[in-house]
Amino acid sequence: MTTDPKLTKLRTELDSRRSRHLYRSTRVADSPQQPHRHIDGKALLTFCSNDYLGLANHPDVIHAFQQAANTYGVGSGAAHLVNGHSRPHQQLEEALAAFTGRERALLFSTGYMANLGVVNALLNGRNDVVYADRLNHASLVDAGLLSAAKLIRYPHNDTHHLGKRLLAQEGEGATQLILTDGVFSMDGDVAPLSRLAKLARHHDAWLMVDDAHGFGVLGKTGAGLVEAEGLTQDDVPILMSTLGKALGTAGAFIAGSHDLIDYLIQTARTWIYTTAQPPAVAAATLASLQLVQTEPWRREHLQALIQQFRQGATQLGVPLMPSSTAIQPIMVGSSAKALELSRKLEERGILVTAIRPPTVPVDTARLRVTLSAAHTREDVERLLDALSNSFLKSKSYR
Ligand SMILES: Cc1ncc(COP(=O)(O)O)c(C=O)c1O
Repeated sequence: MTTDPKLTKLRTELDSRRSRHLYRSTRVADSPQQPHRHIDGKALLTFCSNDYLGLANHPDVIHAFQQAANTYGVGSGAAHLVNGHSRPHQQLEEALAAFTGRERALLFSTGYMANLGVVNALLNGRNDVVYADRLNHASLVDAGLLSAAKLIRYPHNDTHHLGKRLLAQEGEGATQLILTDGVFSMDGDVAPLSRLAKLARHHDAWLMVDDAHGFGVLGKTGAGLVEAEGLTQDDVPILMSTLGKALGTAGAFIAGSHDLIDYLIQTARTWIYTTAQPPAVAAATLASLQLVQTEPWRREHLQALIQQFRQGATQLGVPLMPSSTAIQPIMVGSSAKALELSRKLEERGILVTAIRPPTVPVDTARLRVTLSAAHTREDVERLLDALSNSFLKSKSYR
């Protein structure tokens, strides 16, 4: 083994992570994203993807992808402003704007980049302030940290506290931005969007909602939490969602006013200085957006599975979190226990990954169960059965 001190330092950090049960590694799947998968050579029933509507492996989506690859090739070959912007990108942006009831939409290659790009484009003065919910996704936290603005993290969903912080900044004349997940990615609960919209309006601040886990799933037509709450572009001027979750493909978008999008095109560095996503991915997303709109049964079935899981788990005494969405985490606490319980489920052929710090706060490691419209009632029964057999009988639990 090399004695290079730089590498020794890395190895020490890796060892420390192992000893604290925080070490992570990838698993290798040899089948598509769907509930029944082959992972590391094992047949597993999985409850941990974000493919909430079961579209990642849908034949229409695959077909659209293949057709567009035949027409446009694979790589886009350039950034959007150079010559990487193709017809499917344009059509998808128009379709997303229409679907979300916004004036215009802009495609980003990933949600992480969309969040970084918008926050850094809008807040560039030292007096500017980002207010971020303490349980926001890492990409929103990083967006605030990497911007020139001051970052204020407010207690989870505490609009009273946020109001006081906004009041304290009054008269500074700086740009202010309230930043929140719509559905909180590791908890499954939702942000109080109407109250946040009121506060933003009152204090003349921007409101940006990352609806990565609500888009496609919530709202009558699947347009997300903002639709479910009846909020317009005036209420939520910056709407973001990823396309790699309920839409089953990849990428992300920002939707808002013409002026906002025009400004981002000129200034959002993570949009300007990167290769446009492959046009075939945009074409595939157009197909899945179509399915979101024409197959409401997917949302209905998902809701029924959520009820089934919550009822069954409650009867078993499993400690669920206050979530009515497809994200149904089981709070465990210590990382070691969360890993052990995940392993026990896996011995029964069920995969639910343990989510540990720093993804979640210290001592709140959990099994993040997620449900999908691709699951059946029998799949959920199997999960409940495995929970009652291995999980609740485990001495190490609680
Ligand atoms: C709330 C939230 N925002 C943003 C992202 C990042 O999106 P992407 O995977 O497209 O980079 C994720 C997860 O991936 C997320 O859960």
